[in-house]
Amino acid sequence: MDRVIEVRDLTKVYKMGEVEVHALRGVSFDIERGEVVSIMGPSGSGKSTLMNMLGCLDRPSSGEYCLDGELVSSLTDDQLAIIRNRKVGFVFQSFNLLSRFSSLANVELPLRYAGVTSGRRDLARQALEAVGLGDRIHHRPTELSGGQQQRVAIARAIVNKPAIIMADEPTGNLDSKVGQEIMDLLLSLNRERGTTLIIVTHDPRIAAQTGRVIRLQDGLLDLGEGGSAEGKHKAGKREQARAGEEAGKSRKGAS
Ligand SMILES: Nc1ncnc2c1ncn2[C@@H]1O[C@H](COP(=O)(O)OP(=O)(O)OP(=O)(O)O)[C@@H](O)[C@H]1O
Ligand SMILES: [Mg+2]
Repeated sequence: MDRVIEVRDLTKVYKMGEVEVHALRGVSFDIERGEVVSIMGPSGSGKSTLMNMLGCLDRPSSGEYCLDGELVSSLTDDQLAIIRNRKVGFVFQSFNLLSRFSSLANVELPLRYAGVTSGRRDLARQALEAVGLGDRIHHRPTELSGGQQQRVAIARAIVNKPAIIMADEPTGNLDSKVGQEIMDLLLSLNRERGTTLIIVTHDPRIAAQTGRVIRLQDGLLDLGEGGSAEGKHKAGKREQARAGEEAGKSRKGAS
C-alpha cells in the first residue's frame, strides 16, 4: 500500500489568552495515494483546522504527521513552506485569487514561489487550458464568473503538479450546477493524473461522489460502532449510504 498521508494522534490547541480551544483532540488515519476522500462534520468540529495541518499551513500541537514519506510534524517553518509548495495544491471556498492580477499571473504565482525561472507563462497557460479557461487567460477575477474563478484557483493548485489537492468547501460559494462542474473537474484530475483529492464539504451530494468520508465530531473522528476498525469501516459505509440517500432526496426535491 502506498500511503500519501499518515496521521497519528494529531491534536491542535488554539490559545486565546487564558482560554484554550481544543480544535483537534487526537485524530489518526491514513490516506492512500490516488484516493478521493471527503471530510464532513458539523460547523466547528475541526475540519478546516485538520485541513490546515494536512496542508502544512499550520502545525499540530502534538502528534505525528507523515506527508508523502516526510515526517512534517517536526519541520521548521521554512521547510514546511517548501514541502507545501511542492506537494500540495489548495482550493478554497472563496477562491482566494489576487484581484489585480490576470488569470495567467495568478496561476504563475506558485511557480514563482517554487523558484521556477523559465517557462512559467507556458506552464500557467497549460494549467488554464487543462481547466477549460484557455480563452480567459488575460481576464482578472472580477471579469470572471464564480465557477470560472474557481477554475483559475484549480489551475493555480495544479500548476506545480502536486501529489495532493486539498479543497476546503470548493463548491460552497457556487450554485449546485456550477458546483457539480467543479466537482467533475476535480474528479477528472484524480482519474487522469492520479492526484489524491481531499475535500471538506457540508454537501452530502459532493461527499457521495468520494470514495470515503472522514467524519469529525468535536475534534475527534466519528468512528461509530464503538470505534473499532470494523466500526470505522461500517461508519464509512453508512455515511456513504446516508449521503447517497440525501443526494437522491435533493435531486427529487430539485426536479
Ligand atoms: N485561529 C484560531 N484561533 C482560535 N480558535 C480557532 C482558530 N481556528 C479555529 N478555531 C476554533 O477551533 C474549532 C474548530 O474550528 P474549524 O474552523 O476547524 O471548524 P470547521 O469544522 O472548519 O467549521 P466550519 O464548518 O464552520 O468551517 C472552533 O471551535 C473554532 O472556533
Ligand atoms: Mg471550516
